[in-house]
Amino acid sequence: MKLPIQLAPKHPQGLLLVNPVMTASGTFGYGTEYSHLFDVQKLGAIVCKGTTLEPREGNPQPRLAETASGVLNSIGLENIGVNAVIKEKAPIWASWEVPVIVNIAGETVDEYVQVASQLEGVAGISGLEVNISCPNIKVGGAEFGANPDSAAEVTAAVRKATSLPMLVKLTPNTSDIARVAVAVAEAGADAISLINTLKGMAIDITQHRPLLGNITGGLSGPAIKPVALYMVYEVAGAVDIPIIGCGGITTASDALEFIMAGASAIQVGTASFANPRAPLDVLEGIEQFMKKEGIKDINELVGAAQR
Ligand SMILES: Cc1cc2nc3c(=O)[nH]c(=O)nc-3n(C[C@H](O)[C@H](O)[C@H](O)COP(=O)(O)O)c2cc1C
Repeated sequence: MKLPIQLAPKHPQGLLLVNPVMTASGTFGYGTEYSHLFDVQKLGAIVCKGTTLEPREGNPQPRLAETASGVLNSIGLENIGVNAVIKEKAPIWASWEVPVIVNIAGETVDEYVQVASQLEGVAGISGLEVNISCPNIKVGGAEFGANPDSAAEVTAAVRKATSLPMLVKLTPNTSDIARVAVAVAEAGADAISLINTLKGMAIDITQHRPLLGNITGGLSGPAIKPVALYMVYEVAGAVDIPIIGCGGITTASDALEFIMAGASAIQVGTASFANPRAPLDVLEGIEQFMKKEGIKDINELVGAAQR
């Protein structure tokens, strides 16, 4: 049975994963936090927490709220900053077999570029995932990924700053995600991951005010799966670079739906909070399904529902 997936076929070095199961940024720390719980080396790739130029404390508490079949979070990109990632985390990753992809974020195009430049040539980093769900402070805080022009601008700028394989992670908070995907692909993305969280809120009725300290947050978990699946299907039909599906994936059958919709790989996010072994369970379930169905190569399933 063949599980390897090439995520960056147009990149000179490529980004070959031994299997299609990845972790989603912000839900698996730096991988190190989970390495005593199960053999993280068995995964296709690990995507670390969103990394910014300077360390960030994130948004005011409370920052998490449970919803029906989902979670609202307003962590606000709390992270240790790119220097600490390079000094403290990359040396550990360099000894790992599993590729680690650094998710990067910024409030200006220049900030993304600086983070990418600092990560250039650092051992232990196999690729970048550019999170374009961040507010662009120069244009009043709309997400970079909300429109094709600003999405392409940040993608092209990071492309120039890095020689690593580059994934660009799309936000669902836009009116036409396929157009954003096409713009990002034309601007040099090697692959596209989607989706990030959907904007939402909750209200504390005893206090008469929003429950999250930041007022709004991002919805994730099983509640968003049908939306994410539809968007993956749309984007896979619009671009010819690999797609990484994400959004509510909890079981192998969820993952297989995304793969059949057109995703070459998938990311497990919120599911890891309830079950830290979820990414491995998803991988084992995919293997069982392929065995049962007599599928010899995972690539046979990629986009099967598109045809
Ligand atoms: C607590 C939390 C923190 C997150 N942090 C990031 C982040 O730093 N960068 C990013 O691109 N996505 C981040 N995400 C979004 C996830 O990577 C993923 O796109 C989203 O949660 C949908 O997948 P899921 O439903 O499987 O969780 C975060 C999600 C959660 C729940």
